[in-house]
Amino acid sequence: MIERSRTEANSDQVVQQSTDAALLELLACPCSGRLILGDDGEAVICSACGAHYPTRQGIVDFLGLGLSGREQDQALKRLEMRARDEQATSYDKMMFLRLLSRREIPAVLAALKPEPGDAIFEAGCGTGRLTRVLVERCRRLVAADYSLESLLLCAGKIHGVLLVGADVCSAPLREATFDAIVSCQCLEHLPPEECERAIASWRRALKPTGRLVLTAYHHTWWSRLLGKQEGTHGGQIYFRRFSPQMLQQVLEPHFRLERVRPLGWYLLLASASAA
Ligand SMILES: C[S@@+](CC[C@H](N)C(=O)[O-])C[C@H]1O[C@@H](n2cnc3c(N)ncnc32)[C@H](O)[C@@H]1O
Ligand SMILES: [Zn+2]
Repeated sequence: MIERSRTEANSDQVVQQSTDAALLELLACPCSGRLILGDDGEAVICSACGAHYPTRQGIVDFLGLGLSGREQDQALKRLEMRARDEQATSYDKMMFLRLLSRREIPAVLAALKPEPGDAIFEAGCGTGRLTRVLVERCRRLVAADYSLESLLLCAGKIHGVLLVGADVCSAPLREATFDAIVSCQCLEHLPPEECERAIASWRRALKPTGRLVLTAYHHTWWSRLLGKQEGTHGGQIYFRRFSPQMLQQVLEPHFRLERVRPLGWYLLLASASAA
């Protein structure tokens, strides 16, 4: 898996990782969709255009490419990036999320059925709530988020996954390569046009036999009662809640929907096939 070498710097222990070639093969440079072949310890380099993507603690950073979408959607994303960076250290301590995990994570795994040899992409991995359990079940895992602070926390506790700093609406994924794409509570934070862009790009990254499993906010009796289908958390993090029909509408242009079901009153779980 990921090789590691350790060096001491100013009494802080710095972990340098050289990126696993088998995992790098799952990525493609946006310049041409070509394979990215190697890394020199400080950057991953595109064999086609020579672009360098810096690496830090094994995280490959594609964020220098910018965010996708219209200016107003980019602005929403920038706000969320900043908020996620700020909340990264407190995220795992959120009691509500911990309770939710007891139901959400087993349900996602049951729908996903990951096999050890599968190539899986996790979109919006955050601090690794799902990544941590996926990596025990699958040897070829790529997980992306645009919060580098969250990814750094991930890198400190989870090994054997290729962490990528990227916009999941335009992630540098090799086409027709992944057996599955999975995402917990990220879709609802993508502005509508960007949500469509993300789903189309995930479909392209999947093999024809590939599957998509995701959870997203559920627009149900209590959110209807409060009138909060769409908004921002604290003015910083855009969200919209989905009814099962809305989720179906978003997924069906690109996927064959297998199932959408509520996970309690807060989330929907959707599974879909690329076939
Ligand atoms: C509610 S958190 C969920 C994190 C993790 N999946 C979990 O379930 O704990 C949403 C995550 O999606 C990430 N995210 C939202 N929009 C994104 C985008 N366009 N590109 C990359 N990451 C994004 C955020 O940075 C955040 O880490
Ligand atoms: Zn390139």
